[in-house]
Amino acid sequence: MATRMTPAQWDDQFARQAAWTRATRTHLYRRANLMQARRVLDVGSGTGVITGELATRTRGKVTGIDHDPEMIAYAERQHGEAAYQLGDAHDLPFTDGWFDVTVCHFLLLWCRDARRAAAEMVRVTQPGGSVLVCAEPDYGGRIDHPDLPIRDWQIQGLVREGADPRMGRKLRGLFALPAVRSTDLGLIPGLWDLATLRLEFDAEWALWERTLADLVPAGEINKAKTTSLAAIQAGERMAFLPVFYALVRV
Ligand SMILES: C[S@@+](CC[C@H](N)C(=O)[O-])C[C@H]1O[C@@H](n2cnc3c(N)ncnc32)[C@H](O)[C@@H]1O
Repeated sequence: MATRMTPAQWDDQFARQAAWTRATRTHLYRRANLMQARRVLDVGSGTGVITGELATRTRGKVTGIDHDPEMIAYAERQHGEAAYQLGDAHDLPFTDGWFDVTVCHFLLLWCRDARRAAAEMVRVTQPGGSVLVCAEPDYGGRIDHPDLPIRDWQIQGLVREGADPRMGRKLRGLFALPAVRSTDLGLIPGLWDLATLRLEFDAEWALWERTLADLVPAGEINKAKTTSLAAIQAGERMAFLPVFYALVRV
């Protein structure tokens, strides 16, 4: 059985992911004029890594919403500079146009109906405001050298968890809505240098060992891990994962 992660372990994982997308978020915050926003919503706020950051980048009031009470409790303790509430992205408990800027980061792939969650984010954003979809990966576009089975394992693991591993490529379509004025898509290449591959190695494989435990025999995971380490040491390892983002003008 895959072991259940604690909120503190999730927080570590979310902080690592947030580091990969930092430059893109800064770019999006500037384009959405986040500093001047009066009300900002972070949907799928998790442990509050992004929500806490938003609170430092705006004069407005920041609210995080998540459907997991453990995440909400952890975020309240760790990133109390924002307000948090329990709720579902498919049915946001806010009136139309309440927020100037609505944000999500690694959320839509986890939604059972991403189209509905996207429409909800647009609905609660005021005309003239923006929805910032900061990061949605597309594991179908993953390339590894040497040729490891990691992409297929990750896709199987995510599907089993109810996620959509190919959300990245679907972003534009999700926001093809009458209330949307424009959707600018962008790509975070997700191409790590050798130093980062080395630095991330232990955390990355610990996560895979935990999440793939009941899907892939331990011997196979170990074999891939050894191959990956040898390739890093030989200076040959390459891993590419496309992560898409969107600036949606309402
Ligand atoms: C990968 S985590 C990302 C957390 C945070 N946005 C970050 O990047 O640090 C996805 C989060 O979305 C939440 N989530 C998933 N589906 C949701 C839904 N339908 N409504 C609200 N939250 C949801 C999960 O509980 C989890 O905290």
